[in-house]
Parts: sequence; C-alpha cells; structure tokens
Amino acid sequence: MNITIVGTGYVGLVTGTTLAELGNSVFCVDIDDKKVEAMKLGKVPIYEPNLEEMFLRNIQAQRLFFTTNLKEALDKSDVIYLALPTPPGEDGSADLSYILKVANDIGEMMTSYKVIVNKSTVPVGTADKVHATISAKTTVEFDVVSNPEFLREGFAVEDSMNPSRVVIGCSSEKAKDFMSKIYQPFTNTGVPIIFMDEKSSELTKYASNSFLAVKITFMNEIANYCEKVGADVDKVRLGMGSDDRIGHRFLFPGIGYGGSCFPKDVKALIKSGKQEGFNFEILEATEKVNTSQKVILISEIEKYFDGNLQGKKIALWGLAFKANTDDIREASSLDNIKILLEKGAKIVAYDAIAEENIRKILGDTISYAPDMYSALEDADCLLIATEWSEFKNPNFKLMAEKLTNKVIFDGRNMFDLETVENAGFFYKSIGRKT
Ligand code: UGA
Repeated sequence: MNITIVGTGYVGLVTGTTLAELGNSVFCVDIDDKKVEAMKLGKVPIYEPNLEEMFLRNIQAQRLFFTTNLKEALDKSDVIYLALPTPPGEDGSADLSYILKVANDIGEMMTSYKVIVNKSTVPVGTADKVHATISAKTTVEFDVVSNPEFLREGFAVEDSMNPSRVVIGCSSEKAKDFMSKIYQPFTNTGVPIIFMDEKSSELTKYASNSFLAVKITFMNEIANYCEKVGADVDKVRLGMGSDDRIGHRFLFPGIGYGGSCFPKDVKALIKSGKQEGFNFEILEATEKVNTSQKVILISEIEKYFDGNLQGKKIALWGLAFKANTDDIREASSLDNIKILLEKGAKIVAYDAIAEENIRKILGDTISYAPDMYSALEDADCLLIATEWSEFKNPNFKLMAEKLTNKVIFDGRNMFDLETVENAGFFYKSIGRKT
C-alpha cells in the first residue's frame, strides 16, 4: 500500500519506518527542509536504539521516501497518517493547531478517497474536528480514523514491530478494510486488533498513559511510606507484582515520571475532564505527588550537608528522563539541577547521550564530564537521576578514590544495598533502608 506520514517527529518517523518495513511504500512529509534533506541522505534525526538500521534498509529498498511536498505525497497515497505535535497549551489542554492546519491543507489538495489516520495523542473528539475541517474544504469522499501509538522511547523499534495491541477507532467499513490490510502482518502473528468508535479509541490512549502514571506514582508513595516504617520497597514490589492482576512492570519507584508523554497526557486528561465539568481527582493527586517526588532527594542531600549546599560540588549521573533515550523533556534531572543551583551547589554532569540536549538549555551553568568516573573527581557526593546500564555495576573502589565523600543519592535504586554498604558508602535510595 502507498502511505503518507505527515510529521517526522518521534512517532511519525518510527511509524513510517515500521510501515515501510512491513512492505508498504511510505512518503514521509515534513515542513523542515533541512531535516528532510538530511533524512534523504540517511541521517536519522532522533536517537533510538536499532532505528538507524531499519531506516537505512528501507531507504535502500526504495520503500521509504522523504519530501516537503504534501500534495505530491498525498496524490500517491490512499492512507495519510497525521503524526504532528500536540503540545500542551498554557492551561494544559492539547494544542490542535498543527493537526487542524494539515487537515485543512489535505481538504484543499485531495482529489480521490483517502483514509486520514490520527496517530498523535489527541483529546476525545479530535477525529470529529479533523473530519469537520476537511469536509469544509472538499466534496471528495474520505474517512478519519483514530489509531493511537503505544510505543516507548528507547524501545520504539521493538514495540512497533511487536505491539501489545492495535487500537483502531473507525466507523466506516471502507476505512476498516484499509486499516485491517495495513496491520494484517501483525494480526497474522496473534496481535489483537481492537476496533471501536473514534472517541473510545482516543480515550484509550489517555487512559493507558494516565493509568501507568498512577501506577508508578502509587508505588512511589508506597516507597516513601516504606522509609517511614522500615519496610523495603523492593520486597513489597516483588510481593505485589507476583499477583498477575498487578504485574511486575511499572512498579519501580524512583524520582518520578517524566518524558514527553505521561506529564503532558495526565495534564491534558485533567483539563479535558474540567471542560466537561468532571474532576479527575486521582490524576490531580498523581500530578501533585509526582512533582514532589522528582526532587525528593534534595532534602536528603541538604540533611546530609547540615542544610548548607553553598559551594558543594555534586556529581550527577544521568540527564535523560529515562535510560536509552536522549530526550530530556520533563526530566527529573532538570528539576534537581534547578534547585541545587539555587542553593549554591555546583554540578558536574555525565550523560553520554543526553548531554547535547541539556547543553542547549543549560549551557555552561553546569559542567560536563567526559565519562562517569571523571564526574566524581573531588565531588562532595553523587546523585543518580537516570538508570543507564553503564551505571549498574560501577567500580566502587575507583568511585571512592575520586569522590571527596563516599556518599551516593540514588534516584533510580541502581545498587544492591549490601554491595554498596560493604564498599563503605553512605547510600540513600528510594524506599529502601539507608
Ligand atoms: C510512555 C508509554 O509507556 C508508552 O506506552 C506510550 O506510547 C508513550 O508514553 C507515548 O505516549 O508516546 P515513554 O514516555 O517513552 O512511554 O516512557 P516510559 O518507559 O513509559 O517511562 C515514562 C516515565 O516513567 C519515565 O520517566 C520512567 O523513568 C518512569 N518510570 C517508568 C518509573 O519511574 N517507574 C517505572 O516502573 C516505569
């Protein structure tokens, strides 16, 4: 099938590459001509494990194309995916202006039947708005479908090639046939394809992300309570997760959730609720708890240094909002850096992948180390904000030599308590004994 993807951000690029890998001819459209030129030359604009290989393979096989010309791509395709940004407006609601602008353009340009697929995370009712926008511009037949994306950054290729489910919101049999054909390689291997109405599909995405945000936040509160009563959250987590109604995943406590999805989607669902006169009390509480969880270690660091962080040098391992990505949007590292700098501390950070993005925001207000051990040189303590694999089994002897004080504040529960204590460190993690 010939497919157009409008928007080559994270979701668009991964979706386009995956659909090409499944054998379709895919035309990726973006307004950024520099980015389009770079992609034509085989440069992947985002960091994502294993994406480059699949991207290059499909360019070479002439199944993946890039253009700034929407009309040209549209004329060649039956199905048009919209993978455009929906940034939070000032009040937290999702801004649909990018999507509706492209819908308007499609309405003006289309000359034959098209299936327009909303791939971006959009509020309930957006399919209807896209439909109305296109209808206002054309009499040509078309359908609008909701098909939310569930992939995780860092595992995008794995998730997109092995989805847990495909959700399609669609009320037209003709569009349903197109969508069934596109996802037939998955359904063939047993992946469920769940058809529903457009609104339910749109809400499924928000409900899934919000549920996971609540799950993590619940576990963070349990972890904080463990510290009060002397319980160990690792044991509680294993005990709970073994009930398959609960499951082991997304029960890892830490310094809060971040990224481009959970914070934005939780806010947007709260906002959409309010517009209907509905209060999502559980989500409001989740946001509040997460905001304080992100910086929960700051008070511990202050306590250790008798309330005075002036001139203290703090080594920071990890800047990305989670491991395996260069994304720093809503990263807990940023909240911690902000407060530590306000309190007069100096920061030496190390993150091989996300450093470049942090530099764009923070410049030289913090220093950057070329490797994890250099960051520790003469530092008063170490703070860990991202669970990169390279931090998992460090050389504690070398760490002790470099650090001025053998002190670790670990926001990601990276180390075995006994190992780190035997190495002579003061170690504070989340929900476990000090
Ligand atoms: C999330 C969802 O997991 C995807 O299913 C969804 O498609 C995506 O949002 C999206 O809407 O596009 P992502 O933001 O890439 O994916 O990251 P996650 O792996 O879900 O992690 C989100 C945050 O939760 C991170 O800050 C992570 O550190 C934190 N987290 C995750 C925990 O603190 N504990 C856990 O047990 C799991």
